[in-house]
Amino acid sequence: MKHILHALFLSVTVALTATQNIPHNDAYQTDTLGRSAETCGDPTDALPFYRAIVPQSSVPMRYFYSSNLTVTNTGIKGGWNLQAVACLVFITQEESTVPFIRLDGADGEFIYTANTTELENALLNGFTIPAVDPETFVYPTQICGSVPFYHLRNAATKVNFYTASTAEMQVFNANGYSTIGIAGYVLPVGCTECE
Ligand SMILES: *[C@@H]1O[C@H](CO)[C@@H](O)[C@H](O)[C@H]1NC(C)=O
Ligand SMILES: *[C@@H]1O[C@H](CO)[C@@H](O)[C@H](O)[C@H]1NC(C)=O
Repeated sequence: MKHILHALFLSVTVALTATQNIPHNDAYQTDTLGRSAETCGDPTDALPFYRAIVPQSSVPMRYFYSSNLTVTNTGIKGGWNLQAVACLVFITQEESTVPFIRLDGADGEFIYTANTTELENALLNGFTIPAVDPETFVYPTQICGSVPFYHLRNAATKVNFYTASTAEMQVFNANGYSTIGIAGYVLPVGCTECE
């Protein structure tokens, strides 16, 4: 718990820094790995992607992810359980990023993907794309200091779970969740490789 609070505190700092539009230095523009402002998003623009447990009346709880603090705070007041900052995402389409799309299915199922094949399959299977404000963007491949955002699913309960932590993935794998694939590539919380 202490750990989560620490992460949340850090993330709020990140959010405030980003929203205040503080001019930042251009140190990120090039580094030894050859990343540059021309090919990567600016990591100082990345915002927390909050993960909450959303109770449902007729189906099992769902995990819900949002970069919108207003939506998340309203949800918490309405009974959501804020769990963690799952990762960092962009809310404008920065260099080399692609839309990270939320799809809503029957039974209140939520999936998130940057993979166009998965997106098309979901649309064919009755999922719809809700209006999400703000839209989020991630990398389509592992570039610019990004890490895999793993998609896990419990087939019995139709609960989807996403994590950038391989340790967390293993815990879920041991508790009924299968790893479906990689939803997209995100910046890790507290990332040090992407500056
Ligand atoms: C995208 O999704 C499809 C279908 O799930 C999968 O076969 C493919 O490997 C995925 N592509 C990437 C780049 O992960
Ligand atoms: C967040 O959600 C609120 C409420 O739906 C909306 O008014 C606002 O435009 C959204 N976007 C941001 C960036 O806060």
